[in-house]
Amino acid sequence: MRSVSIAPSILSADFACLGEEVAKVAAAGADFIHIDVMDGHFVPNLTIGPMVVKAIRPVTDLPFDVHLMISPVDPYIDAFAEAGANILTVHPEAGAHVHRTLQRIKSAGVKAGVSLNPGTPVNVVEPIIDDVDLILIMTVNPGFGGQKFISSQLRKIEAARALIDQTGRDIHLEVDGGVDPETAPMAISAGADVLVAGSAVFRGGADAYAKNIAALRPDK
Ligand code: DX5
Ligand code: ZN
Repeated sequence: MRSVSIAPSILSADFACLGEEVAKVAAAGADFIHIDVMDGHFVPNLTIGPMVVKAIRPVTDLPFDVHLMISPVDPYIDAFAEAGANILTVHPEAGAHVHRTLQRIKSAGVKAGVSLNPGTPVNVVEPIIDDVDLILIMTVNPGFGGQKFISSQLRKIEAARALIDQTGRDIHLEVDGGVDPETAPMAISAGADVLVAGSAVFRGGADAYAKNIAALRPDK
C-alpha cells in the first residue's frame, strides 16, 4: 500500500501559542505542517503572512507545506520561501500565468504545488505537470476550516492519481478539506498520499493529537 503522510493544518490550532501547537503536532507524529495563507480577497478570510511562517520555522524540522490562497501570488513567493517554506502551493486562478508562477517557485528553491478548487478540473494541471511536485485537491471551498468534505471530488482525486501515474514521477497527491477518520479512507482509496486535516487533528486537547493523527492513517 502507498504510504500516506499527514499534514495538520495550523488554521485550527490555538494561535495564542502557535509555536507550541506546531511542536505538539510534530511530536504527535505529523509528517508535514500545513500552513493556510489567506488574503481576504482570493478567499473570504485573512490568516497569516511570511512573518508568522518565519517565527515558527525554528520549532520543527518538518517540511512546511504552505498553501497560498492569495491573489496576486507572485510578489510574495520569495518572502514565503525565505521565511522557510518547503512547498509552495498556488491556485491557477490566483494569477494570469500559472506556468510562470511555478517557475518562480522553483527559482526560489522550493517545491511547487498546484491546488484545484472544487470547480476546477484536473486537466488544468495537465499542460504544466512537468513543473509540478504536488497536486492539491480541495474537498471544500477554500477559506475556512471545519467544512464538510465534498465527496464529488473523489472522482477528481482518481483522475489526478491517473495523471500522476502516467508521468512516472514522484508527485504528491494531497487532499485538503473535511478530512476526518470517516473521509480519510475514501481519499486514500481514490489515490491520495498526503492528507491535510485541521479540525480533525486539533481537537480534544494536545493529549489527543497523536490519537487524532493516527486515526487518519490507513494502517490504524
Ligand atoms: C481551507 C484550508 C484547509 C482547512 C482544512 O481553505 O485550505 O487547509 O484548514 O480544515 P479542516 O480539516 O477543518 O477542513
Ligand atoms: Zn489548506
